[in-house]
Amino acid sequence: MTHNEFRVAGLRSRHDPWFSLGVAQAPWLAYLGVGADPLSPEELRQALMVFFMEFNHRANPSVLGRSTWSAEERRGAEIFRDRCEGCHQARLVTDRVASRVPFDEWERLVMTARGPIVWARDTYEKTGVVPYVHESGTRVPSLRRLYKKRPYFTNGSAADLEDVLRRAGFSGGLFLHGGAADDTGKLDSASRTALLAFLDLL
Ligand code: HEC
Repeated sequence: MTHNEFRVAGLRSRHDPWFSLGVAQAPWLAYLGVGADPLSPEELRQALMVFFMEFNHRANPSVLGRSTWSAEERRGAEIFRDRCEGCHQARLVTDRVASRVPFDEWERLVMTARGPIVWARDTYEKTGVVPYVHESGTRVPSLRRLYKKRPYFTNGSAADLEDVLRRAGFSGGLFLHGGAADDTGKLDSASRTALLAFLDLL
């Protein structure tokens, strides 16, 4: 795996993937503390892996310095639990059912800098956002760091989260993100406001 990642990362350099690198070829390495000895192919691979392990999302500015939800955010979380979490599940690992965390753990986890809940599931659903990217629909996407991801949906058809929530429709046990025929089963404006407050924390 390490060799593969290293090879892919350097593919466009047209280098043979097995090389050493020192300040003679890249003088700026001196600023990273590299001395006279060049870094060996093994050291370069180790450095890349350490980088991947530590490279993470910047903390969501909406949770920094806070540890509890406002009344509005809590209301949004409850609506999300009841209407959205069946698909956007509170899992820590997308393809592990057992990593799903119960509602009373959400506040503590959401309000940490890492925000480890992925809000996803490794299955496909047909929610009316077309064209479907797969014959079974579209994979339920993660809702982490939503605030950075505009526009929304695989076809980019929702300009912002208000647009996403205005279109959401529930009818007869079925949920649609797009193409709901009329206004029955739509979220009312108070629910949308509460959901927006909660989604902003993810
Ligand atoms: C039946 C399963 C299901 C339910 C219930 C559901 N979603 Fe989704 N959601 C999906 C799928 C599948 C997609 C991907 C659709 C696409 O882009 O084609 C998606 C996409 C999204 C996106 C866009 C993400 C992106 O990166 O573009 C947001 C935001 C979202 N959902 C929020 C919600 C909220 C809020 C609720 C509750 C009101 C909800 N969803 C309920 C399955 C569901």
